[in-house]
Amino acid sequence: MQKILVWDWPVRIGHWLMVGGFVIAWLTSESETFRLLHVWSGSAVISVAAFRLIWGVVGTRHARFSSFVRGPRAVLAYLGSLLRLQPRHHTGHNPAGGWAIVALLALGVLTGASGWATYNELGGHWLEELHEGLAAAMLAVVLVHLAGVFSGSLLHGENLVRAMLTGRKAGEPGEAISSARPLAAVTLLAWLLTASWWLTS
Ligand code: HEM
Ligand code: HEM
Repeated sequence: MQKILVWDWPVRIGHWLMVGGFVIAWLTSESETFRLLHVWSGSAVISVAAFRLIWGVVGTRHARFSSFVRGPRAVLAYLGSLLRLQPRHHTGHNPAGGWAIVALLALGVLTGASGWATYNELGGHWLEELHEGLAAAMLAVVLVHLAGVFSGSLLHGENLVRAMLTGRKAGEPGEAISSARPLAAVTLLAWLLTASWWLTS
């Protein structure tokens, strides 16, 4: 195995935008003064998550849901190998992490949509409660995600955080993606600005 290109630009830029958006949305959620910043950062989360759902169908090899969303048997087999401290290597996302990713994207869209509906006063107090509850559920999955990333990095002996920055992981040369798709990343940024502007206006 050698270092190969696994994560394209839309996956990497989208990931760190979602991280920034989520953290800022959390920190500003209770303040009236920072309401606009909350709405903007939350809109970044929903916009990127929506883009990522499409990229999961048309994107590069390891970004596709079909490559990392696996059935319960594969998830259990992976978790079993973790418990034996001999984790099976997956060049893309591992089967357990794959489900956390699906949950994070779904919760990003649902939390953002409920926030948008609250902002536009489309519901009553229950909608605010729903928004807050979804945000808390997302935080819980983020914490599980972080535990998975750090334990996975230790057990695999591979810095997965650095891989999410550089795009490069250990793998067979034949598994590499041929392009980091910079134009798709520009499309993501254009979409982010358009969607956020629309969601906040
Ligand atoms: C705060 C909110 C966060 C959200 C919503 C989030 C969401 C996601 C998503 C959706 C993916 C899948 C990437 C893709 O295929 O497009 C992912 C992967 C990943 N995230 Fe996060 N993430 C968060 C925080 C973090 C933080 C703080 C770190 C690092 C310190 C991190 C490190 C990673 C890594 C290393 C992967 C790749 C895991 C693998 O190798 O399979 N994430 N995250
Ligand atoms: C995924 C990102 C988001 C997270 C994590 C998040 C989190 C939260 C949380 C925890 C609260 C409750 C604060 C409290 O204790 O009162 C809140 C309130 C609020 N959020 Fe978000 N939010 C997000 C996205 C959005 C978006 C996209 C919008 C609008 C476009 C929005 C609009 C609002 C508004 C208007 C409130 C105040 C509701 C009230 O009056 O109590 N949020 N958000």
